Amino acid sequence: MPDIKLITENLKSFVSDKELKAVSHAIKLVDEAIQNKECPGNQYLGWLNLPSTVPEKLLRDIKQTAEKIRKNCDVFLTLGIGGSYLGARATLEFLKPVFFNEQTGEKPKIYFAGQNLSADYLNGLFSLLKDKRVIVNVISKSGTTTETAATFRIIKQYLDKFYGKKELKDKIICTTDKSKGTLRALAKKEGYKTFVIPDDVGGRFSVLTPVGLLPIAASGIDIRMLLKGALDFEKKCSIPELEKNPAYKYAGIRHILYKKGKIIEILSSFHPALHYLGEWWKQLFGESEGKNGKGIFPAACDFTTDLHSLGQIIQEGHRNMFETFLVIDKSKSKFDIPKLKEDIDGLNYLAGRDIEFVNQKAYQATADAHFEGGVPNMTILIPQRNAYCLGQLFYFFEKAVAVSGLLSGVNPFNQPGVEAYKKKMFKLLGKPGA
Ligand code: PA5
Repeated sequence: MPDIKLITENLKSFVSDKELKAVSHAIKLVDEAIQNKECPGNQYLGWLNLPSTVPEKLLRDIKQTAEKIRKNCDVFLTLGIGGSYLGARATLEFLKPVFFNEQTGEKPKIYFAGQNLSADYLNGLFSLLKDKRVIVNVISKSGTTTETAATFRIIKQYLDKFYGKKELKDKIICTTDKSKGTLRALAKKEGYKTFVIPDDVGGRFSVLTPVGLLPIAASGIDIRMLLKGALDFEKKCSIPELEKNPAYKYAGIRHILYKKGKIIEILSSFHPALHYLGEWWKQLFGESEGKNGKGIFPAACDFTTDLHSLGQIIQEGHRNMFETFLVIDKSKSKFDIPKLKEDIDGLNYLAGRDIEFVNQKAYQATADAHFEGGVPNMTILIPQRNAYCLGQLFYFFEKAVAVSGLLSGVNPFNQPGVEAYKKKMFKLLGKPGA
């Protein structure tokens, strides 16, 4: 199966071979520090070898639980936020058919909650749950995150009424720390089925733990294929030489551009199925790099939609940005543009063309126009929208951001800044002890 590929032609005049050579030396040192577990945040390097170390027993447990979920519910509800949510959502959107929940016969319907504090969202969700058999997977490493905990409390009360206390026990699955946190305590008290988030894997690096794997498996996706892609990239992205290691090359290029004042990176894709991968990437890069007054601001664009909004500022605004295109080489399906007898809309020149052909040309045109407008860009070419390629992408970005953060001199594995709003919110809410 072909691998994802990093294409760097549109960096000419922005990144030189000499600069790449210089950064490759720095990367070798960072690589050594990671291998020897001597880098800042070294207690959170569990993600590094997840694909090659995931226990067979755990995979079997996940698969069996997923089968039970698929058999015994109409709606599978996943509660979580940030790293406890985005990996699974990105995977479902990337791999399942577009509008998968709306497709007739698709079971279970899969919904996400606990990622906001909106009453309208919850009321909307409840209208979807009415008279449905629901199974909930509540995911929180800390077990104390307000958004997830409050949503879980509300959903639990609803399910308690629907099922009754005895039956409820089998309808709740908790994914959390092995011993700490209120969710663990609650699961123990009520006897809920649990999965463990390893101590040494931070939230945004946890998609290949039960955090991501259970909801993904419950949706019917082949998690072994996802892990196989990640495993192959665990190998490929452990080569110390930048030229042979796509994650190191990407990290090196980002670092060179950042040093030249390119402080914004736009991840642009041309397929709606990639929207949540962009959301996952934003969290991974934003939380990992943005600290100590440093960091590349990660923005994501859905093209061609956003070409009709943000396209203008990318083309002609401040020249402080670079762009990474995520491009799917082979679409899953085609749709030809029809020929009309009377060419009133002037589109007959495209008649018989697949709409994906037009999409491809839109990408090529955008990449060239942005390059000429002073926005250096690279492309990650994804051969196909399948689990193997997605596994590669997850590992590629995780390794790249670790190296990128360490190159900038920050600890990529903590997120102290996230606490600031929480402290103020708890005070405003009158939380005891706040
Ligand atoms: O990357 C992280 O660690 C965070 O974004 C967390 O995933 C997020 O805050 C959710 O935390 P928790 O899983 O503890 O509820």
